[in-house]
Amino acid sequence: MTIDPTTFRNGLGRFATGITIVTGISDDGSPVGVTVNAFSSLSLEPPLVLFCLGRKTFCLDAFTSGRGFALNVLSEPQRHLSETFSKPLDDRFEGVDHDFWDSGAPILDGCLANLECDLETVHDGGDHVIIIGRVVRLMQAEKGQPLLYFMGDYRCIGDCV
Ligand SMILES: Cc1cc2nc3c(=O)[nH]c(=O)nc-3n(C[C@H](O)[C@H](O)[C@H](O)COP(=O)(O)O)c2cc1C
Repeated sequence: MTIDPTTFRNGLGRFATGITIVTGISDDGSPVGVTVNAFSSLSLEPPLVLFCLGRKTFCLDAFTSGRGFALNVLSEPQRHLSETFSKPLDDRFEGVDHDFWDSGAPILDGCLANLECDLETVHDGGDHVIIIGRVVRLMQAEKGQPLLYFMGDYRCIGDCV
């Protein structure tokens, strides 16, 4: 059976996910960030996570050439960040409050969790690459609701505010 890409995408859209912004630093030292929902926990010991990035992503090198990066798990009121970090903009970080930990990757304020990672390995994944990170520092919020993605649209637990 041949599955066309649109049908495939629609089928996969039935799997509800959270949304993350993966952040890092480019070769010239400037911050980069991309909206990613292809994120998963991978291992508890050692603490590993993975995400998948399209091969054509402008800032792919920032995540595959050995530097650390961060995964920022979005909360319900952060839909605007998901939109900002999936759009072609000169500066996606303009007006976005953030901090820096050891890796230099931006740690976005107001997230449900921030995970700073060392790059562990990079694997082939068809038109994407699979990037595995070892979590070296974690912040988790005590309260807050997640921003969700389902069937091509943003969702919330209960009604979106
Ligand atoms: C909700 C949502 C989830 C996304 N998930 C992914 C993903 O998991 N992997 C990916 O490569 N792109 C994903 N994208 C698309 C990228 O965010 C977008 O193509 C990217 O920011 C383009 O970056 P560039 O202009 O730097 O190439 C997603 C977009 C949205 C809106």
